[in-house]
Amino acid sequence: MHQREEVQNKNRVMPLRQPEAGEPVASGASLANKLAEKIDFLHGFLRHPDQVGSVIPSSVWLEQRLVNATRVAEARVVVELGPGTGGTTRALLAAMHPAARLLAIELEPAFQAHLIRSIRDARLTAHLGSAEQIIQTLTAYRLPAPDAIVSGIPFSTMPAAVAERSAAAIAAALAPGGRFVAYQVRDHVVRYATPHLGTPQQQWEWINIPPVRVFTWTKGALRL
Ligand SMILES: C[S@@+](CC[C@H](N)C(=O)[O-])C[C@H]1O[C@@H](n2cnc3c(N)ncnc32)[C@H](O)[C@@H]1O
Repeated sequence: MHQREEVQNKNRVMPLRQPEAGEPVASGASLANKLAEKIDFLHGFLRHPDQVGSVIPSSVWLEQRLVNATRVAEARVVVELGPGTGGTTRALLAAMHPAARLLAIELEPAFQAHLIRSIRDARLTAHLGSAEQIIQTLTAYRLPAPDAIVSGIPFSTMPAAVAERSAAAIAAALAPGGRFVAYQVRDHVVRYATPHLGTPQQQWEWINIPPVRVFTWTKGALRL
């Protein structure tokens, strides 16, 4: 199963921030919720294996590596592409400034609905849509260019045209000096993003199933 056209074409912009600004931030998940999340995630993978790209959510070690690579603590606006059931989303929120904003764009309706139910944080907007539409989605929510974009969307299994358009949109959306961090099993993302953003730094996170590479680009950095 691939990217579903009907979701992309509708380009739905839903006012899903919750609760209102000023309400308490509570981003944690209990053990029972984490188990339920793993089961939901597995169901999502079984429905759309090429789109989800992994059978279980990212490990806490990978989450922390993403927080560090993205430098979210310094960011005013962050975009997460492919939040899934929200483990990475919670880790980003935990490290973000209280006044910062996180726009999470997710293609799978069940995952987006799960995010809305499970993460109560006024800084989060959980949007149902495609990474390709990042610029239109930022505009719809009146958000400025993001300082960081973190992505788990599987560039190796999505249609090449979608991957090309997504990489171009990510590069165009990012603020000057902003960071694009992509965690991937394979390195197809490099082929798509390098023409726009130059050569990335690469790290491995071994304590994850499966181990993944973490690629980091800085917009406007010297190209080697
Ligand atoms: C490998 S999972 C990562 C989930 C979660 N962030 C984690 O690390 O546990 C990839 C996620 O990207 C989503 N996805 C795939 N293609 C997408 C696209 N074009 N736009 C937005 N989300 C997409 C999938 O539905 C899935 O939730």
